[in-house]
Amino acid sequence: MKTRRLGRTGARVSELCFGTMSFGGDADEAVSGALYSACRDAGVDFFDCADVYAGGRSEEILGRLIKGHRDEVFITSKCAMGPHKGASRRTIRLSCEASLRRLGVDRIDLYFMHVFDETVPLEETLRALEDLRAAGKVAHIGCSNYAAWQIAKANGIAAREGFAPFEVIQPMYNLIKRQAEVEILPLAMAEDLGVISYGPGAGGLLTGKYVQGADGRFSVNQDYQKRYGDAWFHDVAAAFAAFAADRGVHPMTLAVAWAKAHPAISCPIIGARSVEQLRASLDAANFDMSPELHAEIAALSRTPSPATDRLEEQGG
Ligand SMILES: NC(=O)c1ccc[n+]([C@@H]2O[C@H](COP(=O)([O-])OP(=O)(O)OC[C@H]3O[C@@H](n4cnc5c(N)ncnc54)[C@H](OP(=O)(O)O)[C@@H]3O)[C@@H](O)[C@H]2O)c1
Repeated sequence: MKTRRLGRTGARVSELCFGTMSFGGDADEAVSGALYSACRDAGVDFFDCADVYAGGRSEEILGRLIKGHRDEVFITSKCAMGPHKGASRRTIRLSCEASLRRLGVDRIDLYFMHVFDETVPLEETLRALEDLRAAGKVAHIGCSNYAAWQIAKANGIAAREGFAPFEVIQPMYNLIKRQAEVEILPLAMAEDLGVISYGPGAGGLLTGKYVQGADGRFSVNQDYQKRYGDAWFHDVAAAFAAFAADRGVHPMTLAVAWAKAHPAISCPIIGARSVEQLRASLDAANFDMSPELHAEIAALSRTPSPATDRLEEQGG
């Protein structure tokens, strides 16, 4: 597996990051262990986690799995959506300490704000993160699900106050959810931010399995039913799965490879509930995505509107 540079952190990580959201939930401890081993065997050294995944069990399982070789892997966790909700100084400190305990480590390599909290001034959030960084409890900080203006505002404040900036961002990005192309990914390129994008397979929708009546996350998870509720999302998924089948490629392989090919993206975060599912996503590491194929796939979906309404200077 190739490695990629993670923005300005100086770290090099595997070009696929494995997301542990299934650990302790869709995947029991034994399956989680098998997923972890399959990732390690394939050369993955980058694991994304959060305090909210499976009520903390994901962190506990990941912590047990990395024991004995902790410094061979680069791990993340997140706060603001777990038991201590929000982005205040108090909740960030409590969340981080609980995550360190569950993971059984004394440092988290990359610590994310999971969502923006509009009730807390960014100065307060950034000071809390700076305190964690100065104490050596986290090495780098990032944010997930922030709008581009929120990231830019935060890093402006960090520069002014002498706090560590957000060096890595974690937006949703896949063939159906392409909003990040408008502001977030251009910002990341302009500011040399690392980008680890989540949901490359649109939570499994892009496999096309729901067209065939199969079960999965969408059968039970109302958040995902809502997130991907528009009819055209399902039309794109069906067209994409047929496109992949015509070319003899697993749709998950193609979906992950498509996200990975965006020049702003450092590593897509892949997810699976079984080793069999995982294989198709891991295969994306060796898939050669030509610019022509990338454009053909993009044309199966809708290109989001540009950030400003004046089109004549944009070649639009
Ligand atoms: N920051 C955030 O807010 C946020 C949000 C979501 C995820 N994440 C991170 O990103 C990671 C990946 O996200 P994701 O799980 O949504 O990624 P994804 O690649 O879009 O979806 C993965 C899901 O698709 C289904 N799937 C995967 N491979 C398949 C295959 N070969 N055949 C059929 N179905 C398959 C499985 O769900 P089913 O079997 O249930 O259908 C699997 O759990 C997470 O683990 C987490 O670390 C972050």
